[in-house]
Amino acid sequence: MCGIFGCILKKGEAAPIIHGGLKKLEYRGYDSVGIATIDRGHLFIKKDSGKIDDVHEMHDLDDLPGRIGVGHTRWATHGAPYQVNAHPHTDCNKQIAVVHNGIIENFAELKTELEDLGHTFKSKTDTEVIAHLIEEVMKKEVLFVDAVREAMKRIDGSYAVAVISVKAPDQIVCARKESPLVLGVAKDSIYVASDIPAFLPKTNKSVVIEDGELVVLSDKGYEIRSIADWNLVTREPELIDWAPEAAEKQGYPHFMLKEIHEQPLRLRNTLRIQDQYLDLMTTFLDRAGEVFLVACGTSYHACLAASYLFSKLSFLATHPVIASEFVEQHGKSVNIDSTLLVVSQSGETADTLEAVESARLRAATVLGLTNIVGSTLTRVARVYIVQQSGPEIGVAATKTFTSQLSVLSQLAIKLAKKRGKVSHVEIEDLEESLERIPDIVEEIISSEEEKVKQLAKKYADRQTFFFLGRGMGSAVALEGKLKLMEISYIPSLAYPAGESKHGPISLIESGFPVIFICPKDSTHRSIIGNIMEMKARGASIIAIIEKDDEEIKELADDYIEIDTGLPEVLSPIPFVIPLQLFAYYMSLERGNDPDMPRNLAKSVTVK
Ligand code: AGP
Repeated sequence: MCGIFGCILKKGEAAPIIHGGLKKLEYRGYDSVGIATIDRGHLFIKKDSGKIDDVHEMHDLDDLPGRIGVGHTRWATHGAPYQVNAHPHTDCNKQIAVVHNGIIENFAELKTELEDLGHTFKSKTDTEVIAHLIEEVMKKEVLFVDAVREAMKRIDGSYAVAVISVKAPDQIVCARKESPLVLGVAKDSIYVASDIPAFLPKTNKSVVIEDGELVVLSDKGYEIRSIADWNLVTREPELIDWAPEAAEKQGYPHFMLKEIHEQPLRLRNTLRIQDQYLDLMTTFLDRAGEVFLVACGTSYHACLAASYLFSKLSFLATHPVIASEFVEQHGKSVNIDSTLLVVSQSGETADTLEAVESARLRAATVLGLTNIVGSTLTRVARVYIVQQSGPEIGVAATKTFTSQLSVLSQLAIKLAKKRGKVSHVEIEDLEESLERIPDIVEEIISSEEEKVKQLAKKYADRQTFFFLGRGMGSAVALEGKLKLMEISYIPSLAYPAGESKHGPISLIESGFPVIFICPKDSTHRSIIGNIMEMKARGASIIAIIEKDDEEIKELADDYIEIDTGLPEVLSPIPFVIPLQLFAYYMSLERGNDPDMPRNLAKSVTVK
């Protein structure tokens, strides 16, 4: 987690620019913030625990001199979120400042070694060892850049670092291993950041730094070298076509609401993915001996829904696996005949990448579905598809979930076609239906948002919720529960409805809210049975139903009615929309910030 940002300007003050860049990275972690600049041979630092705006109000983060500096927004891993643990971290003599995203696995050994050499540590972080390591190497009168390289060679674990030193006051030295790092290149300035939106307002020319590379930034430009052999790497900037305003709220009070509303547009983009990529991935899936669908959180729910799709349409059995369980569950059996379809919005989730690595070591084929070009997943996958959702800033995944479902549906339909398992007429109907989904989602948002808002008002004080669905609806139930829990902090449960009577039903008492996902598919009759069971025990039934489902309307205390008319396999996309809106409005009702849920970060890059 954590966001790092650095810049060198030919003229002007760096601190306000770094502050602005960190605001764009705040979704990566926001328990403390800090900036360091260099001016006339001195290092200046301001840092504290708290969100960026609060720290700025206390310390005025813009008021630091100098045209060069680095900054950091933190999600704590080592050391509590106190001021002393906030980045940047310095060496003993306050000559060097380091910002870091990642985890240094051997920091305890390095710290002991450095303490024995007389270094004094101020924080409990792993990061501080980097500053002292560099300081130690620089005692041998080596150049700053060489000292950073030597330090990086000593470190095990993951890092994206940006370092400044008063000994080289015109340089930022950065390095990367398993944590994202990109450069932004402009005429009179140069930037380094954890991701592109941080510098997009300043430049749309970007260079992705690869694992094992070190970069020297100066006002003359950038020089990339391989840390291992010091070979020079030539890499030209690429043009990024995201408009800066794509990463802004565009008038919505929160990114999450903006991203929910953006779904029709994003789903249209997702339908424009070139056939050649979908065809290639379909070929790999068709040939696979066994297929694992591997992901975390919301992306895992997309995989779960996809496992039904692949089975129902393409007659392909798949194993959806939570990434953090993959090594334990399948690490020994995965082999050259195995294929992993790995789904990760960020492409940087540590648990997901660990599963990928273990499978690659056993010669399995890795296919990737991600939203981030240049992410680690795109570099390790044999074939990857970019889902085209645009940057998602809200911590709660919304538009990226529906885009993932759209891509996975397209793959399942293509595979069905390839395998000749489904009639031409049915394939045509599925393809046409997929094309209609963006309009259907648009209509659901415009007609149901107000009703969902009222529903949230009515149920705002409930202590817990139960989400139930059957078949693909059970994946939607899980996703609805995750959304509600992560931003409203209401402990909730989700189960396949049939499983609810094997234990969870004992929780039900008068007024216990149960949300049912009720598409008019092959599970409809059984879902009605489950509603009756819950109702008989006093539950308050909230049903998400297809338009004119009079039978369920009769049974439910409240319902949200959506007009889809889609084949049953495509129901998850429209059915999840009311649940995303419900979670958003519940979060507001309970006085939370839906974009920045406590203890969470957008991209979970620690195991
Ligand atoms: C979703 O709302 C979550 N915040 C989280 O579960 C997320 O989906 C998960 O961390 C996986 O992220 P990824 O798709 O970037 O790998």
